Amino acid sequence: MVAGAVPDASGRALLLSLRRMNRIRAISPGDNALVAEAGVILSHVHEAAAAAGLRFPLSLGAKGSATIGGLISTNAGGTQVLRFGPMRALLLGIEAVLPDGTIFEGLSPLRKDNRGYDLRQLFCGAEGTLGVVTAATLRLVPALRQRVVAWVGLDSPQAALDLLRRLDQRLGESVEAFELVPLVALQLVLHHIPGTRAPLAADCPWQVLVECGSSVDGEDLATRLAAALATEMQAGRVVDAVIASSEAQANALWHVRENISEAERHDGMAAKHDISVPVSDMPRFVIEAAAAVEARFPGVRAIAFGHLGDGNVHFNVRAPIGLDSRDWLACEGEGITAFVDDLVVAAGGSLSAEHGIGQIKAAEFVRISDPARLAMVRAIKQAIDPLGIMNPGKVLPLASGPAIP
Ligand code: MLT
Ligand code: ZN
Repeated sequence: MVAGAVPDASGRALLLSLRRMNRIRAISPGDNALVAEAGVILSHVHEAAAAAGLRFPLSLGAKGSATIGGLISTNAGGTQVLRFGPMRALLLGIEAVLPDGTIFEGLSPLRKDNRGYDLRQLFCGAEGTLGVVTAATLRLVPALRQRVVAWVGLDSPQAALDLLRRLDQRLGESVEAFELVPLVALQLVLHHIPGTRAPLAADCPWQVLVECGSSVDGEDLATRLAAALATEMQAGRVVDAVIASSEAQANALWHVRENISEAERHDGMAAKHDISVPVSDMPRFVIEAAAAVEARFPGVRAIAFGHLGDGNVHFNVRAPIGLDSRDWLACEGEGITAFVDDLVVAAGGSLSAEHGIGQIKAAEFVRISDPARLAMVRAIKQAIDPLGIMNPGKVLPLASGPAIP
């Protein structure tokens, strides 16, 4: 997404694969924890946890190929961030090799550790710029016993957020995902992805995928969600809703959501932004930022979809109809991105909610970050990797600027 794992153009970069460090070293039900090496594939962690009656609650579309080391180095999010947080929140310990060859051994599954700075977290989201993560201790939770997926039609992003907050109250902490899908995104999926069907009969302008989960048997989550949605419909706050009645239907709903990006790609290139603002402000941002971009760059089409519950949407701007999107992006992309990022800064947000900085966003990160943040980032990099040998040009740009081959 941001060329974080792409070497620079110098031809002098060494690429390191940890795929063969693929052992699950230990699983400790007493600690609700598992120790995995960096090359272990995420779905193998899921299987190992399930075999012990537990669950590792981080999942994403690429779970069959994504490795633990990469998921840590990118502080991966995924589909259950709403309830369990991103990788950062699930990281109990870390083992890493520092740039001078020293091994930092921090795998102990401590729940409380107040020895000053939280060193393990430095490596999470660092994109390999501080050292090489070789193993990690991951937090596990009780296995999932019930899962319910629904698709809901609404009038506005604010109605979506209001629904989330009411579901929080009625269903306790069981809401695991709350994904915003504007009608135009759904239409792109239906048009470009074979075998997909509209989840609702009505063409609601805003739709959400809701997933709830519970580790408790017996409390019928589907019934409770259905009752909550019925109340919302009677009150006129929800236009339409459907609850998946089988695993296959639930997966079909997720298939629609997970293919938005792919469908958009089929439609042409876009100026892409993976942004976050405070959750409460996202409904306003989605509407106002789209209007502002479309007014400033006539003909462009803004689309915002994704992790509303996390205050993170993919705010993509597509070419005016009839233009070659590649040429248009080469001409206008930078200006549009600067415009969007300035709106994000004004809202107290971040230009990268989940995809990272890599090379592609490094210059923009420097442009819009406040001096105190940048000074700390530079000081940490200088202190741990004074020779600048670890994934150079990522997060902080090289003095000569990005050099993507
Ligand atoms: C998603 O949430 O669908 C992805 O993070 C967006 C993307 O691939 O651009
Ligand atoms: Zn996303």
